[in-house]
Amino acid sequence: MNDLVVRFEHIVKVFSEGTHREVRAVDDFSLSVARGQLVTLLGPSGCGKTTTLRILAGFESATSGSVYIEDRCVNDIPPQKRETSMVFQSYGLFPHMTVYENVAYGLKVKHVPKAQIKRQVAEVLSLVGLEGLERRSVGQLSGGQQQRVALCRAIVTKPKVLLFDEPLSNLDAKLRKGTREQIRRLQQELGITSIYVTHDQAEAMSISDAIAVMNVGRLQQLGTAEEIYSRPANRFVADFIGEANFLPARIIEVGDGRVTIRIFETEITVEQDSTNFSPNEEVEAVVRPEAVDVIEVDQGDVNAEILFSHYTGSVVLYALKLPDGSRMEVQVANPKERGLLPVGARVGLRLHRKSIHLLKKEL
Ligand SMILES: Nc1ncnc2c1ncn2[C@@H]1O[C@H](COP(=O)(O)OP(=O)(O)O)[C@@H](O)[C@H]1O
Ligand SMILES: [Mg+2]
Repeated sequence: MNDLVVRFEHIVKVFSEGTHREVRAVDDFSLSVARGQLVTLLGPSGCGKTTTLRILAGFESATSGSVYIEDRCVNDIPPQKRETSMVFQSYGLFPHMTVYENVAYGLKVKHVPKAQIKRQVAEVLSLVGLEGLERRSVGQLSGGQQQRVALCRAIVTKPKVLLFDEPLSNLDAKLRKGTREQIRRLQQELGITSIYVTHDQAEAMSISDAIAVMNVGRLQQLGTAEEIYSRPANRFVADFIGEANFLPARIIEVGDGRVTIRIFETEITVEQDSTNFSPNEEVEAVVRPEAVDVIEVDQGDVNAEILFSHYTGSVVLYALKLPDGSRMEVQVANPKERGLLPVGARVGLRLHRKSIHLLKKEL
């Protein structure tokens, strides 16, 4: 399993704006992608995702660091010789050309024989259910169809790496879900190594083998969706992926793979790597809103008062006030079964032991 198709090694990209302002768009970024994997760069707008992708494709050169595609350093290789293809948010199709001409373009410039072009184009169009639309002008297609044409155009040349830069952002919510399923299915069927860029955490979590969470040009954490959600590396990741409460806690005892904390007035033992923690240390406990039971007052780990309830049908999200005045959010599923609690009600909260994750305090 050491078949790496892409390697970023200590990539730095500094843009100079005029003479006095510099932007460090990518800051010491390293990442490896194994063959056939789909790895997503996830982070807020401006964190350096597109720049990182463009450095791999060769549209941008790194200030320092190296990029490898299949063991070859491509720093000095022009984009058209890197064997990457990119799918853009804006599709990037030739609007005056037909579906066929758009998809065939990359093969034509490579002087592939006509009969073979015909075969390959038909093959990829059928993969995404666009067979029969060859002669349509792309301007006559819906957004979802245009993005599928763009996907065909990208895969028809059999690139070593397929790159996606926010490919679904121009589609409406329903189409987005269907299209992302289709991208993932195709990527897995064809086994194409892919790097996918998005700022949408749900999208990232649903289609990726691994997610690289970025902030201010830096890699914050690399892991599966489950890992970054349940074991975030720091406060930024915990906060960016889903909703999180950060509760103050103090370490009582550390054991092998176990940490006992005092949180509120209760002692709780959490299963977590303990090597970074020491007794008496103040830490933050990450508690997800769905990992708390709302029960009778005095029956839980702490009492709280309901400040607000956001009813959404499938769940109700309660904002609660804790005894120290701080605020906490708790999500209760199936509110119809449980009944809605009124604002001002006093309740007990019980934290799910298995879901608590401890973080070092950040300065
Ligand atoms: N050509 C450029 N010149 C100057 N600054 C740039 C350029 N391209 C991107 N940046 C800056 O680099 C940072 C990262 O941008 P980008 O990679 O586009 O982020 P993302 O794709 O995560 O939204 C931003 O601060 C952006 O303004
Ligand atoms: Mg971008």
